[in-house]
Amino acid sequence: MSSAASVERVHVRAPGKINVFLGVGGRHDDGYHALATVFQAVSLYEDVIARAADDFSVTVRGAVDADAVPLDDRNLAMRAAKLLAAAADYHGGVALEIRKSVPVAGGMGGGSADAAAALVACDALWGTGFSPARLHELAARLGADVPFALHGGTAVGTGRGDQLNPALARGRFDWVLVTSDEGLSTPVVYEQLDLLREEQGALADDPPLSLDVPIPVLQALRSGDAVQLAASLHNDLQAAAVHRRPDLEETIRRGIRAGALHGIVSGSGPTVALLCGDPESAQAVQTALQQAGREALHVHGPVPGARILV
Ligand code: C5P
Repeated sequence: MSSAASVERVHVRAPGKINVFLGVGGRHDDGYHALATVFQAVSLYEDVIARAADDFSVTVRGAVDADAVPLDDRNLAMRAAKLLAAAADYHGGVALEIRKSVPVAGGMGGGSADAAAALVACDALWGTGFSPARLHELAARLGADVPFALHGGTAVGTGRGDQLNPALARGRFDWVLVTSDEGLSTPVVYEQLDLLREEQGALADDPPLSLDVPIPVLQALRSGDAVQLAASLHNDLQAAAVHRRPDLEETIRRGIRAGALHGIVSGSGPTVALLCGDPESAQAVQTALQQAGREALHVHGPVPGARILV
């Protein structure tokens, strides 16, 4: 493919996610753990603007911790653009501008959203015209959460979290997110989980290499029932995240005291996601946490995956 881009500028928006259920099984030989998870995309977004260029470059800005994001080949959006170029045999480059709103290393898939957005943006910028299935396949090579950021909505993830099936979800769920100034590294949290499991040792069975999402989680989503969903929120990584950040448990308790139905650590943390019964109670929970000096955001889900803004 020649390097002539078909348009000059493409703007794509991709959502952050919460894992409303995250079951972690055993570790495969490639280091990845078997997962059964339910993702929900929420109204906190990464914007990626792709402009025609001869070389590859990336800039990052946004209120949250933009300095912590690498600008070289460790950047997932840059990797996504290069992977797409290689797959399409495209010989030009792209200048990517990332406008962040999802916390960096927060357990909400911000880097994965950047990668998904970059794939969609470069596909449009270069006129590559890859099918959704082909983009999904490239996304899975970039990271376990990247296919979901393409897909959005509410979905069950199995395998490494990258094998997706849409989940029926009715209505809208209101969440208050409590963010942290300092992120947690996802691999470190998974390692911590392995250590905790080793300590429990001989008493416990080996974690399974294939697992399922419990039916009550899917029923709660299908009926749009926040009270029922609150009762089935679960995250196997939570103990490991709390081991590193014991204050997260107090944040959850504080949110529940302020009126949240329940709360969990989001993904590998340290963001805490508090599920609320309606927008008004979410507003009250957000205000109470802000008054206690915490960064709290009111978001809702599900929302669509990576899409081009016109
Ligand atoms: O795929 P992604 O880059 O998001 O994963 C980051 C890290 O999280 C992996 O390198 C691995 O340590 C851990 N991980 C895991 N099992 C999964 C997904 C992620 O152990 N299913």
